[in-house]
Amino acid sequence: MSRQLRRKGSSRIPSRPFVVATFAMTVDGKTTTRNFTPVDFTSREDKLHLFRQRALADAVLIGHTSLKRDNVRLGIPPELQKARRKRGQTPAPIRVIVSDKGKIGNRLNIFQSDISPILIFSARRMPRKYRQALREKATLHLTRAQHVDLAAMLRTLRDKYKVRTVACEGGPTLFRALLERGLVDQLNLTIAPYMFGGANAPTLTGLSKQFLPASVHCSLIDIRVVGDECFLTYRIKHKRRHSN
Ligand SMILES: NC(=O)c1ccc[n+]([C@@H]2O[C@H](COP(=O)([O-])OP(=O)(O)OC[C@H]3O[C@@H](n4cnc5c(N)ncnc54)[C@H](OP(=O)(O)O)[C@@H]3O)[C@@H](O)[C@H]2O)c1
Repeated sequence: MSRQLRRKGSSRIPSRPFVVATFAMTVDGKTTTRNFTPVDFTSREDKLHLFRQRALADAVLIGHTSLKRDNVRLGIPPELQKARRKRGQTPAPIRVIVSDKGKIGNRLNIFQSDISPILIFSARRMPRKYRQALREKATLHLTRAQHVDLAAMLRTLRDKYKVRTVACEGGPTLFRALLERGLVDQLNLTIAPYMFGGANAPTLTGLSKQFLPASVHCSLIDIRVVGDECFLTYRIKHKRRHSN
């Protein structure tokens, strides 16, 4: 599977890490329910698939809402840690949180695990009390601007932390923001055998009624069926590769 993370035939040094997003959606394209309650609609196999993808990366990336709602630690199981060590990697990928507002609770599960360093990319508008509390648990990268510059964040990950591959675990808002900026290279998509309906339940690209600035063209590079679930791997076709 690691082959999927490597760029074929690229000799020049890329300006940012290779970004692989992993999502599950229902047959009718929903990634969660209307209320954004944590919904468990995928199999054990899919959860293992997510862990495997996470374990292949140098960093795992998550948006603040998914972190809050799902309260994930973003660790990996011992056998995958072992496999990483054998490959000469750290036991687990660096964990990266993105938030514009910066009001991230320091009691979230992620901060109770020290499996790998945690980086927070946010803005200087992060309230002081959050800064103080979070500094004890994570390294803060705070921009002077109102919003996090995702391309700059990826460059920092590459230049400062030697990150070559990023596993983006959503949610849809963060994924869409990356997609709109041409910052996603691969999409691993699980189609789970359910339908939720509901116009207010987010799809892969969130709830925005707006079209993407330009349609994104994907090429299907792998397909695997396990039980009633379908695991698809798409390469995202960039108009100008890594133009940032
Ligand atoms: N089915 C799946 O595979 C899957 C995967 C992941 C998540 N989910 C579900 O998706 C739901 C949450 O998704 P979501 O789309 O609402 O949220 P999200 O993308 O996880 O997080 C959105 C938040 O992240 C920060 N953020 C996102 N993009 C940013 C950017 N460009 N710059 C700076 N900060 C940015 C902001 O935080 P601040 O508000 O702090 O500024 C924003 O409010 C949850 O219910 C979760 O369970 C499903």
